[in-house]
Amino acid sequence: MKKLLVTGGAGFIGVNFVHYTVKNKPEYEITVLDNLTYAGEEHNLDPVKGKVKFVKGDITDAELVNSLVADCDVVVHFAAESHNDNSLSNPWPFVHTNLIGTYTILEAVRKYSKRLHHISTDEVYGDLEIGSPERFTEDTPYNPSSPYSSTKAGSDLLVRAWVRSFGVEATISNCSNNYGPYQHIEKFIPRQITNVLSGNKPKLYGSGEQVRDWIHVDDHNSAVHVIIEKGKIGETYLIGASGEKNNKDVVETILETMDKPKDDYEHVADRPGHDARYGIDSSKLQTELGWKPKYTDFKAGLADTIAWYQENEWWWKPCKDKVENRYKKQGQ
Ligand code: NAD
Ligand code: TYD
Repeated sequence: MKKLLVTGGAGFIGVNFVHYTVKNKPEYEITVLDNLTYAGEEHNLDPVKGKVKFVKGDITDAELVNSLVADCDVVVHFAAESHNDNSLSNPWPFVHTNLIGTYTILEAVRKYSKRLHHISTDEVYGDLEIGSPERFTEDTPYNPSSPYSSTKAGSDLLVRAWVRSFGVEATISNCSNNYGPYQHIEKFIPRQITNVLSGNKPKLYGSGEQVRDWIHVDDHNSAVHVIIEKGKIGETYLIGASGEKNNKDVVETILETMDKPKDDYEHVADRPGHDARYGIDSSKLQTELGWKPKYTDFKAGLADTIAWYQENEWWWKPCKDKVENRYKKQGQ
């Protein structure tokens, strides 16, 4: 039995990781550390109740982090402030959690000689030109655009430095945009699904020509397991499933799947500094570690995700007005 400490395990990707692990990897014993910001809910862990230990606490609390790290084998570090738009209106929580939080985790794994897997994003590489054949690789230089992506870039660099300077046993993965159940409705895909379910029009920032490289959250998490099991210490792995689509196409697919006219959306104010395109080349992960994505049919994965939001209105309805009022103030 190996003990995993999962930070941010009550948020979108972390909770899907916990559900996935309980179902597919019974050899792991899991403790979740999450301070339940607006983005985390303890009830997300209800489907695995009794099988997972939950600790409510902050990853910047060194005493708590030390005690939990001392008692685990591997730390899987998902906890972060994760939304670009929020980072533009208030960057401080991003600096606090993404930088100081990761530093706190690193000092703990250094002290107790524990294995760390650090979860990061492809946004650390900046953006690519729309229509160009270029994709991000592990060798692409860091060039982040927003307070979110720059604090994630900083956290990656801290991990690299702790590996090199202190011999910490860590790996890093940088994944593209995830979709699936339990994603906060401030994010693009669930915001538009719940807009349609609430009788509102989907909102496209600016032209809607920007491209994101979509991956199902379970594919992200199966890759994380492969890296924990077979990844080489000190290495970075890019996770992506060749799912590039522009935002307008995604909104049209959502509308069609929900039996609405495909032009029933509106354009709203663009995001300042909006990254044009992300695209991942995941050859290293596929050839060196043998990982393959399973959810390669985006329309089918999206239809399942839409069904989840339809069936779980109780989960998102209570925060819908708050999220939309905040966007309205920004002209979005
Ligand atoms: P999320 O915002 O849905 O969840 C983050 C979780 O971390 C929440 O449960 C929150 O309560 C917790 N948290 C935040 N600050 C904390 C703190 N100080 N102490 C303890 N817990 C804290 O985010 P997500 O979309 O699930 O992203 C998880 C990770 O994956 C992040 O590191 C993010 O950068 C990375 N990532 C996300 C995507 C994506 O598409 N969402 C893509 C690539 C990488
Ligand atoms: P988002 O889900 O915030 O992820 P990220 O900024 O990490 O890529 O946004 C995905 C894309 O969708 C991004 O290009 C911004 C755009 N977007 C909209 O067009 N409308 C929206 O309401 C939101 C939230 C995002």
